Amino acid sequence: MDLIESLQWRYATKKFNPEKSVSPEDLQTILEAGNLAATSYGLQPFQFVVVSDPDLRQQLVPFSYNQPQVGQASHVIVIAVRTDVDADFIRASAKLTEKKRGLEEGQLDGYAKQMIGAIMSMNDEQRIVWAQKQSYIVLANLMVACATLKIDSCPMEGFIPADYNRLLELDSKNLHASVVLPVGYRAEDDEQQSFAKVRKTLEEMTLNC
Ligand SMILES: Cc1cc2nc3c(=O)[nH]c(=O)nc-3n(C[C@H](O)[C@H](O)[C@H](O)COP(=O)(O)O)c2cc1C
Repeated sequence: MDLIESLQWRYATKKFNPEKSVSPEDLQTILEAGNLAATSYGLQPFQFVVVSDPDLRQQLVPFSYNQPQVGQASHVIVIAVRTDVDADFIRASAKLTEKKRGLEEGQLDGYAKQMIGAIMSMNDEQRIVWAQKQSYIVLANLMVACATLKIDSCPMEGFIPADYNRLLELDSKNLHASVVLPVGYRAEDDEQQSFAKVRKTLEEMTLNC
């Protein structure tokens, strides 16, 4: 399938087949695609929280306004933003770049200082919003990867972050649930798959300057 065909095939799945699991290899590919998302200064201020345990997924249903997808899907990927981004975290990222690119120790100290100036000038709330914006780019990468593998998914903002944080013990790890993506295989009787895709035309959506 080419890219556009894959994206036409994808839809926000409302009913998953609970009997079908995503293979570990495919899950790895999906997460790799998420990990290759662009991030501000390359800082990756989030983590993937992969919920596989069926009981735990079931417990997420009431915290998702009773949307059944999180209980039925093969895995639920929660993109959780870090609430502990600080100067040390930023310096560690610069050190990783030095190492990966074979640079001299300390070569990126100036750059790290610059990043710290920019990122730490935001207050805690602003920094979380900054990280959350990036979590949606990650979400898109995950969804496109799923579609190319013919794996279904449903992007979800319809959940209660505080309850997810508590159940998945994210608070204690300095994480905050930002956006959720159940992945798996569509149920044969998910009516949603037969609905026509509704999009405005590209002409309507594009301004050429
Ligand atoms: C940020 C975001 C949040 C969404 N939240 C939910 C949700 O909580 N539950 C749900 O069933 N669909 C959710 N959707 C899916 C949208 O309703 C769906 O993508 C849109 O109607 C277009 O349909 P399509 O994706 O099937 O083409 C969400 C989509 C996005 C991008």
